[in-house]
Amino acid sequence: MPPKTYKYKLVSGEDFGKAALETLQEAFDKARTYPLVVLPTGNTPKPLYAAWRQTRAIPYDFRYVNLDQYRGIKFSDPRSYPLEIKREVLDPLNQRLDEELIFDGNSDPKNQADKVETALKIEQGIDICILGIGQNGHIGFNEPYSEFNSRTRSVQLTHNTIEANKRHCEAHGGVPKDALTLGLGTIMEAKKIILLSNKPEITVKALHGRIMSKIPASILQRHPDVTVVGTPMVSAQLRLAR
Ligand code: GLP
Repeated sequence: MPPKTYKYKLVSGEDFGKAALETLQEAFDKARTYPLVVLPTGNTPKPLYAAWRQTRAIPYDFRYVNLDQYRGIKFSDPRSYPLEIKREVLDPLNQRLDEELIFDGNSDPKNQADKVETALKIEQGIDICILGIGQNGHIGFNEPYSEFNSRTRSVQLTHNTIEANKRHCEAHGGVPKDALTLGLGTIMEAKKIILLSNKPEITVKALHGRIMSKIPASILQRHPDVTVVGTPMVSAQLRLAR
């Protein structure tokens, strides 16, 4: 029998940040107290974070889990993803950073990956995992052909991702070639996944095409509780594909 697939819930709205915040608020309302929450970086989640800071609509404390981080850079490097989250979300919302749940890009990568996996196990897993999607279908830094059951680990970035991320890194020494990322298997164990997307083509492929490791995000079709928050363009294309 083929593995089961599930229908995702689609949320859209003219105001992407507001739609994403309402979705997250609902997830917080259903989650346990002090949930473990994965927060992505990049351009896509910016409207969500801006709305969250502004309205403070989610009054609960949470524990931030780092999705991915470049290797060979310090926490304080301008390219650092957890630093971005600290600045954009944690500090404004008075949340503290837990060293056990973030990657130190400058330490031994295997130790860092194991540290986060162990912390997730001890803390009984991710409650809410918010994701963006890369142009090539990556989630976190799980690049095409990542194993669907992969765990948290060090990975090499593809040419496509290095090119796409130049806009964030060019002024600060370029895009590192390696990174740490939560694995696809690790992400799939999250109780709730919220996929934020402003990229119609790859999102339709990932959610309506064949489930294949060439498009890592396609594994989300096998997660029982995914909500997709799309920009109006993404939502329109997803509705056509349904
Ligand atoms: C990066 C990150 C991902 C992010 C993706 C999309 O490579 N590793 O976690 O979701 O790119 O970024 P953006 O939202 O800027 O398009």
